[in-house]
Amino acid sequence: MSRVGLYPGTFDPFTNGHTDIIGRAVKLVDKLVIGVALNEGKGPLFTLEERVAIIIAECEAIGAGDKIVVQPFKGLLIHYAREVGANIIVRGLRTSADFEYEFQMTAMNQQLDREVETVFLMADPKHQAISSSLVKVIAQLGGDVSKFVSTRVTDRLAAKAAAAR
Ligand code: COA
Repeated sequence: MSRVGLYPGTFDPFTNGHTDIIGRAVKLVDKLVIGVALNEGKGPLFTLEERVAIIIAECEAIGAGDKIVVQPFKGLLIHYAREVGANIIVRGLRTSADFEYEFQMTAMNQQLDREVETVFLMADPKHQAISSSLVKVIAQLGGDVSKFVSTRVTDRLAAKAAAAR
């Protein structure tokens, strides 16, 4: 049976932490689908189309190759996992606070479909403090985010901040 992984997220914006997880997850599966959630509830700074385009460019830059597919999705994660034939959901874990939230989400998803396993990758210690929300705040207030996101994402954040002024 081929292993199809689904790495879901809002990715608003895509950070070095996400790049690290993708680089490691892709080694564990035959195909990795990066599911970019609409997640209007999080009030994303970047549109869904912008987030998908950014991740495609990032994956090309890291040479993640043709094992990766980047797609937008709406609705329930577990429905989307079925739609793309994923048998593994990949999530990154940073802190014990992440654990509480992830534990609950995994338990609910397991009740919805027992065939899909969630696999957690511990965030690399150097990325453990990165948060997309904090990156947005720093960028909007003119701070330097280059340690947390790629040059491309830094430029996109600067453009958003300039447009908001
Ligand atoms: N290193 C550093 N940071 C990391 C990281 C890593 N390895 N992995 C995640 N993060 C951070 C992100 O920066 C982000 O920070 P923020 O919360 O401050 O913005 C945070 O962890 C999580 O963001 P992201 O990775 O983009 O995922 P998410 O938690 O927003 O994604 C979905 C959530 C899409 C999986 C979830 O909302 C979902 O499944 N939605 C569909 C509806 C559904 O099915 N809900 C569940 C019902 S049980």
